Amino acid sequence: MADTVRRLLASCRLPRLETQMLLQHVLQVPRSWLIAHDTDVLEPGTVQRFQALADSRLAGQPMAYLLGEREFMGHAFSVAPGVLIPRPETELLVETAVQHINQSGLAAPRVLDLGTGSGAVAISIALACPQAQVFATDISPQALAVADGNAGKLGARVEFSCGNWYDAIVGQPAFDIIVSNPPYISADDAHLGQGDLRFEPIGALTDGANGLHALETIVAGAPARLASGGVLWMEHGWDQASAVRKMLQDTGFCRVSSLQDLAGIERITGGFL
Ligand SMILES: C[S@@+](CC[C@H](N)C(=O)[O-])C[C@H]1O[C@@H](n2cnc3c(N)ncnc32)[C@H](O)[C@@H]1O
Repeated sequence: MADTVRRLLASCRLPRLETQMLLQHVLQVPRSWLIAHDTDVLEPGTVQRFQALADSRLAGQPMAYLLGEREFMGHAFSVAPGVLIPRPETELLVETAVQHINQSGLAAPRVLDLGTGSGAVAISIALACPQAQVFATDISPQALAVADGNAGKLGARVEFSCGNWYDAIVGQPAFDIIVSNPPYISADDAHLGQGDLRFEPIGALTDGANGLHALETIVAGAPARLASGGVLWMEHGWDQASAVRKMLQDTGFCRVSSLQDLAGIERITGGFL
């Protein structure tokens, strides 16, 4: 029996929304098309391409990698297996940075995003604050290639450089704001072996230690790279806020505070020099 849209959607073992999204992706059509054409017979090549994606999804591959895209701050970011899939909770880091930049009154604030991955944070800031000079770094050339592609596609002005945290910006003048969503999962956390995390780059998820190592490195290096009155904001794990506040206070930061995400979890912590 020939495969129709309706029959394919009904026979797939994935949740209906995911099945629809994969078929939309293969056919490059909106959801309304699937509804209006549910008795259309599909080409064998279309069915094969859909089946390959459905099998990968059933094996656990994240939807974002299969679709090649994830929305963040209203922008469609390309993603690929070498790069972390941007998370909705990271939008708090962007919103906080944008608010700070706009309140600073600086004509051309210098912004640094450490560990940019797909470029989600840096590019979203650059698009929201065209007056800012935005720099972004990563240790992964693969991630930087994706980030650079996203900046081009979305029309954002961001300067990218590769290196181990601050090594990537040697010789740069001081920054007014530093933001980072570093790897903060402890190396022995069982979640690393579950769900989407199994397929994401391990170096984007864990610091290979107790989850605080990258955060400590970023805090320790910030005073030498921030302008007077500059600010540092970092995303961290649900149980790390008090440790990060202490790191900032011990390093000489003032007005140290944490902000909660929509789930009521202390998600980002920052302070002023
Ligand atoms: C949690 S991901 C965040 C990606 C992106 N900023 C986001 O929020 O979607 C952490 C990023 O830090 C990068 N990273 C890990 N270790 C690093 C290091 N030593 N120096 C610079 N970047 C590093 C990883 O490659 C990864 O892209």
